[in-house]
Amino acid sequence: MSVAMMAGSKAASANAATAIGKAEYARRRARLIAALGDDSLAIVPAAREQLRSRDTYFPFRQDSDFHYLTGFEEPEALLVLMPGRAQGESLLFCRERNAEKEIWDGPRLGPERAAEHCGLCDAFPIGDLDDILPGLLEGRARIYYSMGRFPQLDRRLQNYLHTIDNAPGSTGVPEMVGLDHLLHDLRLYKSAQELRLLARAAEITAEAHRRAMVRCQPGLFEYQLEAEILHTFVDAGAREPAYPTIVGGGKNALVMHYCSNAAPLKNGDLVLVDAGCEFRGYAADVTRTYPVNGRFSPVQKALYEIVLAAQQSAIDTIRAGNDWDQPHAASVRTTTEGLVDLGLLRGDVDGLIESGAYRRFYMHRAGHWLGMDVHDAGDYRVHGQWRQLEAGMVMTVEPGIYIAADDKQVPEKFRGIGIRIEDDVALTRDGVQVLSAAAPKTVADIEYLMGETEVQGELW
Ligand code: GLY
Ligand code: MN
Ligand code: MN
Repeated sequence: MSVAMMAGSKAASANAATAIGKAEYARRRARLIAALGDDSLAIVPAAREQLRSRDTYFPFRQDSDFHYLTGFEEPEALLVLMPGRAQGESLLFCRERNAEKEIWDGPRLGPERAAEHCGLCDAFPIGDLDDILPGLLEGRARIYYSMGRFPQLDRRLQNYLHTIDNAPGSTGVPEMVGLDHLLHDLRLYKSAQELRLLARAAEITAEAHRRAMVRCQPGLFEYQLEAEILHTFVDAGAREPAYPTIVGGGKNALVMHYCSNAAPLKNGDLVLVDAGCEFRGYAADVTRTYPVNGRFSPVQKALYEIVLAAQQSAIDTIRAGNDWDQPHAASVRTTTEGLVDLGLLRGDVDGLIESGAYRRFYMHRAGHWLGMDVHDAGDYRVHGQWRQLEAGMVMTVEPGIYIAADDKQVPEKFRGIGIRIEDDVALTRDGVQVLSAAAPKTVADIEYLMGETEVQGELW
C-alpha cells in the first residue's frame, strides 16, 4: 500500500467510528417531547439555502437545532413534535421527489423515505404545509417556536393563528413560547457520540495547525497558511471550517475578527491563527500564535508565557461543581499578575481586576460553549447565577493579550503584539479532556516543530 493510501485509510477509519445513528436522534426528540408537556406542539424549521451570487448558492448547511433533532440534511423542511399524539409524536414536512431537479442537484429523500431514514412517525410534502399544519395547531395550548429567525415562516404561523382565532366557535389560539431555552439546554450536554465527533473535529484541527506551523516562514502570505489549514480539513473529510479562518500576522492579530488574510508574514513578527473545522456538524475552535520565523524573541516569549499560564490556570478550574465564570476569573488574575510583573500594568492586582484595568489588554471572555455551533447553544447563567459546570459540557479556553500598536503608555517593544491560545476542553465523568492537545503550544514544542523547516530570510 502506498503512503498516500495508508494515510487515506487512516483518516477513513478515524472517521468511521463517529456517525450518529437514528436511535440517538429519536432519543433527543423523546427528551424534548418529555420536556414540552402534552398540550403543546413544537416547530423546528430546516435552514434556508442562501444566495451567494446571482443564481449560485453557498454550500448548504443545515440548521443546528433541526439537525440535532432529525439528522435530515435537506433544506425546505420542518419538524413538528406533538407530545401525546396517538398516531405519532414526530412529523416531518419535506420536499417531494422531483426527477428533473434531482438530475441537477442530486437525490432528495422525499417524504416516504425521509420518515424511514430519520425514524420519524410520518412525513408529508412541504407543499401541503398550509393544508395540514393549521389543523395540527388547533386545540394545543402552547406552540414552542423560536420567532425571528425565519421571517416568512413567522408570518405564515401568525396567519394560521389568525385563521384559527377567527373560525366560528373558536376557543382562542395557542400561546407562542420560544423553544430555544428547552432545546438548547439539551444541546449543552454532549452524549458519548457527540464527544467523539467533537474530539475528531479537534484532532483534524490540531493536525491542520501543525501543518501550518511547519510551512510557516517569512515572506509567505497569510492566506498561504490558511491554505494549509483548509487542505488538512478537506483532506480529512471536514469540508467546511466552522467559522472563517483567521490568520493575522503582526498587528493584524489585534483585530478580533480579522479574516482578510491577505498580508505578507514578516520576519520577527508573530502570527495568530484561529481556525477550526466542522466535522459532521460539530465544530472545533483552536488558536495558536507563533513566531513567523520559528523563534520567539525575548519580548514575545515573555508575553506568550503569561497567556499560556493564564490558559492553564483557567483549565485547572474546570471541574464539576465550579461555575462558568471561574475559568475566566482565573485567566484574568494570572494575566493581570503577569502584566504587572512586566510593568505593563501598575498597581495592586486586586484593584486592577476590580477596576477592569486589565481589559485594555484582555478585552474578551476566556471562552464559550462549543458543539454543533462554534459559539454553541446553552445559557451561561441560570436564575441570574453563573451556571455550574457539569459532565458533558464542552467549552473553549482562550485567553489573550493584545497590545495596541499606538499605545504610547507601554514601551515600544511591546506594541502591536497580539497573542491568543485557544483549546477545546470537554468535561467528562472522568475529568477534563483537552481535545485539541495535539496542536503544540509550549514555546519549546513550537520552536522544535518549526525548527524542522529552514528559515529562508526576510523577503518583505
Ligand atoms: N473563532 C471564534 C472564537 O474564537 O470565538
Ligand atoms: Mn477561535
Ligand atoms: Mn472561540
